[in-house]
Amino acid sequence: MPVNQYPKQAKQWGIIGPGKIAAKFAAALAITEGAELAAVASRDEARAGEFAGKFGAPRSYGDYGMLAKDPGVDAVYIATPHGFHCEHALLCLQQGKAVLCEKPMALSNRQVQEMVDASRTHKTFLMEAMWTRFLPMTGKLLALIVEGRIGKVKYVRADFGFAPPFNPDGRLYNKALGGGSLLDIGIYPLFLCQLLLGEPSGIMAAAQLAPTGADDSCVAALHYPDGALAVISSLFSCQTSITAEIAGTEGIIRIPTPWYKNNRLTLSRQGLPDEEFRLEPVVNGFEYQIRETMRCMDNGLIESPDLTHAFSLSMSRVMDAIRKQCGVFYPGE
Ligand SMILES: NC(=O)c1ccc[n+]([C@@H]2O[C@H](COP(=O)([O-])OP(=O)(O)OC[C@H]3O[C@@H](n4cnc5c(N)ncnc54)[C@H](OP(=O)(O)O)[C@@H]3O)[C@@H](O)[C@H]2O)c1
Repeated sequence: MPVNQYPKQAKQWGIIGPGKIAAKFAAALAITEGAELAAVASRDEARAGEFAGKFGAPRSYGDYGMLAKDPGVDAVYIATPHGFHCEHALLCLQQGKAVLCEKPMALSNRQVQEMVDASRTHKTFLMEAMWTRFLPMTGKLLALIVEGRIGKVKYVRADFGFAPPFNPDGRLYNKALGGGSLLDIGIYPLFLCQLLLGEPSGIMAAAQLAPTGADDSCVAALHYPDGALAVISSLFSCQTSITAEIAGTEGIIRIPTPWYKNNRLTLSRQGLPDEEFRLEPVVNGFEYQIRETMRCMDNGLIESPDLTHAFSLSMSRVMDAIRKQCGVFYPGE
């Protein structure tokens, strides 16, 4: 049985916005040692009660603010559409709750900064739920690069495309809810580039806009200060391969589909047989970020050293720049 020294004390979790992804998160809490679902909040009391009943939460609220004030809740998972992440995270941070906020952290760098400021002011934990960061596959990828197995990284390419039906009111296309492919799925390829190369010094982006003004599809070429390049894409118009490759001076790492949640990767080096690495199977995938949140809380941290506030601020700055080039703006901008 794996030894899990965290958390020191069981953490009581609350969920705000009991929709599709909240159900996956609640399932992950149920398999994570030391994590307990204490409360659920919806805009609708009956919906909150139904979700709480399904996942065994003792308390439910028809008001997000009431959950934020629940003294029995230690940490809150924000699972509303991203148009509301900033508002709902602030509700919780101001009450001293740790916050794990769905990706993207917010609509813009300005909003992410507001959230980070609140985390610092109230000395309470805040992390973007970029769950890919904490998967064993990502740890292996970083280790291979640190060991110099592919030499110096010169090029990253990653894509994420699927074809949902067009619904102008749904959260994928409605700008009031944060609609657009870049913020919803393009953030995964961007995350990989940011992790391996940092913040780009040059960006060239193009997008095809939906009738709502949200980006239906988006591509960006990124140029880094050390001369590395990257190409990222996000599409709601077609299924893409959803693969990633990281090329260096000595070799290439390929992550097969679906790369952002895989447990396998392949290392190819000239003149040598390919090496395939298989990490532990991903059961739910969210349990790793839940453990990291609780580990940080136990250590009195307000940010994770592996997914810092600066990292989320930087990603949001790059997404702002891409959106500006593509003419995608959210209400109030
Ligand atoms: N990590 C991942 O793999 C992953 C996957 C999918 C989505 N996400 C992220 O999770 C967030 C939620 O996505 P989802 O697909 O779960 O969304 P969803 O099911 O459409 O909405 C989530 C919940 O938000 C609440 N909500 C509050 N204000 C709302 C409004 N004005 N309109 C619609 N809903 C509103 C609703 O709950 P009540 O009305 O009951 O309060 C709704 O059930 C997004 O930021 C998305 O990027 C992450």
